[in-house]
Amino acid sequence: MTKVGLLGLGAYVPERVMTNDEWAEYVDTSHEWIVSRTGIERRRIAAEDQTTVDLAVEAARSAMADADVSPADIDEIIVATDTPEVFLPDTAAFLQDRLGVGQVPCYDLAGSGCAGFVLALDVARSRVIANDGRVLVVGVELLTRLLNWHDRNTCVLFGDAAGAAVVGRGEDVVEIVGTLAGTDGSKSDILALEAGGTRLPFSEEIAAKGLHKDLVMHGREVFREAVSHMTECSLQVLEEAGLTIDDVDLVVPHQANLRILNAVGNRLGVPAEKVYINVQEYGNTGSASVPLALWEAREKGRISIGDLVLLCAFGAGFHWSAMLLRF
Ligand code: ACO
Repeated sequence: MTKVGLLGLGAYVPERVMTNDEWAEYVDTSHEWIVSRTGIERRRIAAEDQTTVDLAVEAARSAMADADVSPADIDEIIVATDTPEVFLPDTAAFLQDRLGVGQVPCYDLAGSGCAGFVLALDVARSRVIANDGRVLVVGVELLTRLLNWHDRNTCVLFGDAAGAAVVGRGEDVVEIVGTLAGTDGSKSDILALEAGGTRLPFSEEIAAKGLHKDLVMHGREVFREAVSHMTECSLQVLEEAGLTIDDVDLVVPHQANLRILNAVGNRLGVPAEKVYINVQEYGNTGSASVPLALWEAREKGRISIGDLVLLCAFGAGFHWSAMLLRF
């Protein structure tokens, strides 16, 4: 039986770099505050004429080239995003058209926050087991477009990016050797963008108050929950696979905040050099963060053939997801 796993990986970040000092022009903040609380030094901001699908196309093409497949070889597309191209239809439909992929099933996995991409990889794995074929999975976020640039509690945290993978069968794939996902819906109001849904439909009043860009975020509680769930889901996926943290060569976590990543690494008992961190360069890029970090880690030679890589992510919902990859 051939293995199921990643055939290729890709990523894209917009050219424009925005520094912490630039944020101080919009809100009462400083480079020192942002670095000390988050580790973020800069992030990428999409150009005015770029939209979500533009970022997704670049990452998808890079993953398809890496997998040596053409649009005609793709049998399904899943896009993980909370910043879609339009409200309806989903971003995956636009991506299919732009890539020239056939009339195959294409859908978004929306609302899973930063856990979305790993969850989408898990769905893709199940689809490949059920149907064979190749599934293109994209994590893309243009968070800076939809958030309030005058709310210092949230605006400085995020950046724009896209990452992608092609999932399929083969002897030489990066094998998916374990997956895990979970949700605690009782905490759904702690991190939420409420306006635009049926609870708070768009209206002139909502727009006048700026609520359509108002990310509700109880930062300290999100912090605590992120550390605990990213640690627990990592240990659980390892246990279910009959492995331990000592078997892991590299942890590639969702890049939320340097302090969260350090706390997760400490709780897992892994040395700092085994946790891949690029949050200082890109900020929190939501569902793009794990594929971007994984792609970059591989490009920088941080992953060798035979390595066991642990992915773990946490986001609004709260949702969490973890995956073990054998390179
Ligand atoms: N610049 C300066 N001051 C700020 C800024 C800023 N950008 N943002 C908030 N503050 C102020 C607040 O107004 C508050 O001031 P007050 O005490 O006068 O009211 C104070 O800083 C808050 O300080 P702390 O509570 O000590 O801040 P903390 O150390 O908790 O850091 C942070 C805040 C960075 C938001 C942290 O709680 C965090 O990272 N939480 C996780 C949030 C997160 O990761 N969200 C992303 C989505 S979910 C995910 O990816 C896992």
